[in-house]
Amino acid sequence: MAKLKVGILISGRGSNMAALIEAASAPDYPAEVACVVSNVADAAGLAAARAAGIPATALPHKGYPDRESFDRAVSAELEKHGVGLVALAGFLRIQSPWFVARWQDRQLNIHPSLLPSFPGLRVQQQALDAGVKVSGCTVHFVTADLDGGPIIAQAAVPVLAGDTADTLAVRILRQEHRLYPLVVRWFAEGRLSVRDGRAGVAGVAPGATLLFSPEP
Ligand code: GRF
Repeated sequence: MAKLKVGILISGRGSNMAALIEAASAPDYPAEVACVVSNVADAAGLAAARAAGIPATALPHKGYPDRESFDRAVSAELEKHGVGLVALAGFLRIQSPWFVARWQDRQLNIHPSLLPSFPGLRVQQQALDAGVKVSGCTVHFVTADLDGGPIIAQAAVPVLAGDTADTLAVRILRQEHRLYPLVVRWFAEGRLSVRDGRAGVAGVAPGATLLFSPEP
């Protein structure tokens, strides 16, 4: 069967992108990374994608008169590569309603907290300031509600005494790199659905694999 083509949007270092590329290099993985697009010309992830032989394009958003014309250029690039799923991986750009609708139910994001807690930026500091004892990461469908779309899966990590935003970020990132490839696999296998604003995963026993930490 033809593999699902995934387009990844980045703005920076691209470690989640790299995790998806690595997962997709396995012969039995049902998706391939068809292209990477960055709105930041010197994003480190672009070089990493090219080194892996993946078409990687910089489309600096400043070159466009408004949000939607930039989004249309991104969409054209994704369509050129036959993309069937958009994966946001540290893409720091609010999308136009046009783009969100264009890729509705075919666009995922990964966020470094257990949503709906701590959306937005400086996420780990928000968690530390709130004094939570458990944090983690969330993969969700993208909707017009920033970091608010239907939650597909989450992985939890402990927040330890003495954690800084950086140490917590590293711990969460390790789980992000496991969770995102798994959810993209589920999407490619046609196991994800959205009903009444809630996402479902077919064929996964409740509680079986969604809570990753502590390590099984
Ligand atoms: C990750 O923490 C991701 O959850 C958030 O932005 C960060 C991107 O990191 N959306 P990287 O570029 O994938 O390394």
